[in-house]
Amino acid sequence: MVVFENKAIPKLLLVCLFVQFSVSAANFFQPFNVTYDHRALIIDGKRRMLISGGIHYPRATPQMWPDLIAKSKEGGADVIESYTFWNGHEPVRGQYNFEGRFDLVKFVKLVGDNGLYFLLRIGPYVCAEWNFGGFPVWLRDIPGIEFRTDNEPFKREMQRFVTKIVDLMLEEKLFSWQGGPIILLQIENEYGNMEGSYGQKGKEYVRWAANMALGLGAGVPWVMCKQTDAPGDIIDTCNNYYCDGYKPNSPNKPTIWTENWDGWYTSWGGRLPHRPVEDLAFAVARFFQRGGSLMNYYMYFGGTNFGRTSGGPFYITSYDYDAPIDEYGLRSEPKWGHLKDLHAAIKLCERALVAADSPQYMKLGPRQEAHVYWENTQSAVLNTTLSESQSACSAFLANIDEHNTATVIFRGKSYSLPPWSVSILPDCSNVAFNTAKVGAQTSVKLVENALSPKISAPELVMTKNEVSSISESWMSVEEPIGIWSESNFTVQGLLEHLKVTKDESDYLWHMTRIYVSDDDVAFWEENKVSPTLVIDSMRDVLRIFINGELIGSVSGHWVKVLQPVQFQQGYSDLMLLSQTVGLQNYGAFLEKDGAGFRGQIKLTGFKNGDIDLSKASWIYQVGLKGEFQKIFTIEENEKAGWTNLKLDATPSTFTWYKAYFDSPDGSEPIAIDLGSMGKGQAWVNGHHIGRYWNLTAPKDGCPDSCDYRGAYGSNKCMTNCGKPTQTWYHVPRSWLQASNNLLVIFEEIGGNPFEISVKSRVPRILCAQMSESYYPPLREWLHLDLIDGKVSISDMKPQIHLQCEDGHIISSIEFASYGTPHGSCQNFSNGNCHSPNSLSVVSEACVGRNSCSVEVSNAGFGSDPCRGVLKTLAVEARCVSTSTIGVSQF
Ligand SMILES: *[C@@H]1O[C@H](CO)[C@@H](O)[C@H](O)[C@H]1NC(C)=O
Ligand SMILES: *[C@@H]1O[C@H](CO)[C@@H](O)[C@H](O)[C@H]1NC(C)=O
Ligand SMILES: *[C@@H]1O[C@H](CO)[C@@H](O)[C@H](O)[C@H]1NC(C)=O
Ligand SMILES: *[C@@H]1O[C@H](CO)[C@@H](O)[C@H](O)[C@H]1NC(C)=O
Ligand SMILES: *[C@@H]1O[C@H](CO)[C@@H](O)[C@H](O)[C@H]1NC(C)=O
Repeated sequence: MVVFENKAIPKLLLVCLFVQFSVSAANFFQPFNVTYDHRALIIDGKRRMLISGGIHYPRATPQMWPDLIAKSKEGGADVIESYTFWNGHEPVRGQYNFEGRFDLVKFVKLVGDNGLYFLLRIGPYVCAEWNFGGFPVWLRDIPGIEFRTDNEPFKREMQRFVTKIVDLMLEEKLFSWQGGPIILLQIENEYGNMEGSYGQKGKEYVRWAANMALGLGAGVPWVMCKQTDAPGDIIDTCNNYYCDGYKPNSPNKPTIWTENWDGWYTSWGGRLPHRPVEDLAFAVARFFQRGGSLMNYYMYFGGTNFGRTSGGPFYITSYDYDAPIDEYGLRSEPKWGHLKDLHAAIKLCERALVAADSPQYMKLGPRQEAHVYWENTQSAVLNTTLSESQSACSAFLANIDEHNTATVIFRGKSYSLPPWSVSILPDCSNVAFNTAKVGAQTSVKLVENALSPKISAPELVMTKNEVSSISESWMSVEEPIGIWSESNFTVQGLLEHLKVTKDESDYLWHMTRIYVSDDDVAFWEENKVSPTLVIDSMRDVLRIFINGELIGSVSGHWVKVLQPVQFQQGYSDLMLLSQTVGLQNYGAFLEKDGAGFRGQIKLTGFKNGDIDLSKASWIYQVGLKGEFQKIFTIEENEKAGWTNLKLDATPSTFTWYKAYFDSPDGSEPIAIDLGSMGKGQAWVNGHHIGRYWNLTAPKDGCPDSCDYRGAYGSNKCMTNCGKPTQTWYHVPRSWLQASNNLLVIFEEIGGNPFEISVKSRVPRILCAQMSESYYPPLREWLHLDLIDGKVSISDMKPQIHLQCEDGHIISSIEFASYGTPHGSCQNFSNGNCHSPNSLSVVSEACVGRNSCSVEVSNAGFGSDPCRGVLKTLAVEARCVSTSTIGVSQF
């Protein structure tokens, strides 16, 4: 039987799905209380097993939020998690911002509107690879302040902000007992890693933070992550790649995983991290297997560090994180789909998982074990006459052997467990899911590297009306080198970078005048030497100019500078442009870290000895002229004196470029390719899309294929070696108009703006492959109750599920074979066994639809094409936007 969308779901299930939809349409919830016991959070009187997805609201636009939340829910999330971002919410002390991307209330309400709960991690130190870990830079200037310790000025400011957030949530009735979605809060963040640096004062600070939080009347439980000494009622939680076996510091607290690192962040010039979904699913299954109760993906959607919000130093603008939803808001397959299947399997076990106070442990082999959850452990164990159907039973069978498949016997049945995998048996008998067997579709966008232009061609299939050429006529204007306004000032000696810039710009000019005598010049010529500029220590980027000419650049994190320089006789202007590339977001004593220069600056190699410039008279200038005149905005850009750029213009340093472009048609996400440029920042219609930089990842360190088996670390399955770390930059659709979008680029080192292009981005090719021995189609059963007889696993056949992005339909089936097909996505071919009906069956089920399911069975294809052989269905499909369907008729 061919299965069309949802058709295979029995009537009873459709009723359940309908009920679920009507619940989600309801506005928030009836008020409910949240408490906890040793096993789980107790929500409205019931223990719950909860899947949470991390989405940082300012890393997307409000226009993207509804779709991200809907995709999280569809993927099986019960909870959405986010930090708060103090420096976004209070850019100037006492002046709050809860607008646009920082509209926290709107975001929490949208989550509630979708029937999902909310985990709000206030911090207010959040790390998060976010600028300064979320601290406002003005916090450094408060007299006597020391961050994150028993320090009155800090505690006063922290309490003020945390109270502000909790009061706002109270006012808007967003806590569970008010009928809102917030079920859990976090105070501080991974302080356990830093506490040792602060001695006794650190311990006192932890107690203070806990009491302060509990005193705010939020009325829901609080957590502290990575905090083994979390006091009293505060639940200490785990952040790691694996958290099975984690035990909180009291037998009365549940096991909660606040950060499951499903990928990792990256730096300019770094490789791109990738965590294989088989290992991620293994980690999640192990967590629930061994008694875990709430797991949050960090991140479920990573998004973009727009503007200068990226932390650092040196974190890139993309915060894709290899998350299940990619930077552009598209499903990252097969990660999203495989996790959805996993979540469905876990939910089928929820009744038994919450009923049991603890699992029954069974050793199945040297590196194999089962954990069995009985709804009624006492009677199950003591009263063997109790019929099993009366008591829910769910089991997890794990093979933690990294190399070998194991066959185990569990309750009289034999199970084959692939290496490093968990099989989930919601009824203690049938396998609903194995973490190492991926049945989800892949999409070609993800098979290849999404960020590199060289191999992006097949994934970003362009049809004519999707490519939008930037107007041929680029214009440019030069940024002055050095002091450019009356806001310059002169000081004897060196000032700390952030004290001067207040982080209002990445850039700080320092200028001093050097006098070189005839004797010096003669001395250098005689000895064939030249003087050297020596700086004891600096971060993040330094550009050195003499008389307006760039003579050297250095980048690093507190590195020494030794730059040979050349002077003519007489006076010369030495200009040092100090730059930040994301403020420090991790570590103790952040308030003391600062930026710019440390120690001494001197010129060595002069005839009469070194010249100490540390005490010299320096002229300071914050920022760039174009930046402060806002020439990137629609309103101000005309004032900048632009001139037309010639096609053969030589790349120039410190130059502003502008051009106009029309939006590509449709609703697909937009990326701008800045692969031809060097380093700088870019704006579209006045919106700051972020910093860009063309640093290239090292050539080695990326394996040919990624082996999911064994413990994951962020260096394990790197990709993108030898290619620029980031060339594509997300421009949210909501920042664009149909035509005449103003693109402004500030370029520091040179590049070719004529090669910049704007493209829409969408997975065009979907592939899936599944054998007839695969598991039944779990994903339709998300949130359904197995035990009440609504679902019988053994009745259902495996199904391939294909799904294009919203607004797209399957336009053609490029390949389909039910039999023994060879190859992989984009390279499938028929094997010896092939059902002649393959293409027609799959086409009939799928073409013209946004999503479809096809049963992988002989019945599905009319007859058995080869008896006694294990058959597989392989499909490659093409998606097309419904808005372009007229042009690309199939
Ligand atoms: C929540 O708990 C409080 C205090 O025990 C109680 O007064 C209130 O009625 C409870 N609310 C709900 C919705 O159960
Ligand atoms: C054992 O099960 C039987 C049949 O369900 C029941 O009559 C009996 O009371 C149970 N005994 C205990 C100790 O639970
Ligand atoms: C620098 O500041 C001084 C004093 O305000 C002013 O006279 C001078 O013109 C400024 N320099 C530039 C280039 O604007
Ligand atoms: C980065 O851009 C600059 C300016 O166009 C160029 O000189 C340099 O070679 C580029 N570096 C890489 C790694 O592409
Ligand atoms: C495609 O598959 C064939 C055999 O099935 C193999 O020889 C060939 O290398 C594959 N090509 C690619 C690009 O993977």
